[in-house]
Amino acid sequence: MIHRVFSVHRLGRHLGAEIRDLDLSRPLDAHTFAAVSEAFFENQVVVFRDQRLTPAQQIAFTGRFGVLEHHVRKEHRLEGHPEILVVSNVLNEQGRAIGVQDAGRFWHSDLSYKAEPSLLSALYAREVPIRDGVVLGNTSFASAIAAYEALPHAMRRRIEGLKNVHSYRYYREKNRVAQRDEQARGERIVDEYALTDAQLQSVPDVEVPVVRTHPVTGRRGLFVNEAHTSAIVGLPGAEGAALLAELCAHILRPEFRYEHVWRAGDLLMWDNAAVQHRANFDYDLPLRRLMHRTTVRGSAPY
Ligand SMILES: [Fe+2]
Repeated sequence: MIHRVFSVHRLGRHLGAEIRDLDLSRPLDAHTFAAVSEAFFENQVVVFRDQRLTPAQQIAFTGRFGVLEHHVRKEHRLEGHPEILVVSNVLNEQGRAIGVQDAGRFWHSDLSYKAEPSLLSALYAREVPIRDGVVLGNTSFASAIAAYEALPHAMRRRIEGLKNVHSYRYYREKNRVAQRDEQARGERIVDEYALTDAQLQSVPDVEVPVVRTHPVTGRRGLFVNEAHTSAIVGLPGAEGAALLAELCAHILRPEFRYEHVWRAGDLLMWDNAAVQHRANFDYDLPLRRLMHRTTVRGSAPY
């Protein structure tokens, strides 16, 4: 078999790379896939530009990294393809958004509140909002691994062995309050679906280590985030909140960041065990944003 040759171009100082010269609509041979996988975990965020992927092709490529999740929000799964979560502000005939549009207001890693949080997410851009030639809706990333590696030794010792609670319930409440405040300021109205008790009960709170070992690379990284961490286990509320704020601020230092400016046709993949991300809501209808996300199941953090 002939191996396909691609090149890797670094985008940020600690994370991010563009992988060029690969057409992901065609199956990769095992050797090429292994090299792509290695480049992905090394760079933590990678983009393949100018792709033309059907839902089935996106599922086929990203499914090679592991089992694909079916998102808890059934109403936003792509019909006929439960592995694909629609992320969009486009409205259906009833005037409701066809996809998740509030996924990513706060810094987070995807599904970190699950007992087995996702290993990686892949977002394929079908439509990207552009105003006056400027692309809107950038996605920002921060490397929790680079952040951990840069921590002073005293802080590393302080957080060694600590656990924190990741809570979907906490996240939903935090989002609800933020939406209410935004609406009160007249900023934007986000269409929000209420979750059923059964949906909420399917994602109970989990206790996970503050310092996590990456399941593939073995590198250690911080595993706290502002969206999902509701408490540091064993610390009084104020002390836990102060430590959490300090760690989150550290992760978000500019040197650990990469901001992705989207183009239609981008397949962007990020390593949820290595980075956090946040969406930038600086666009609204009639500017359309339409993306398809697949998410690979991970393993229990340790
Ligand atoms: Fe996300």
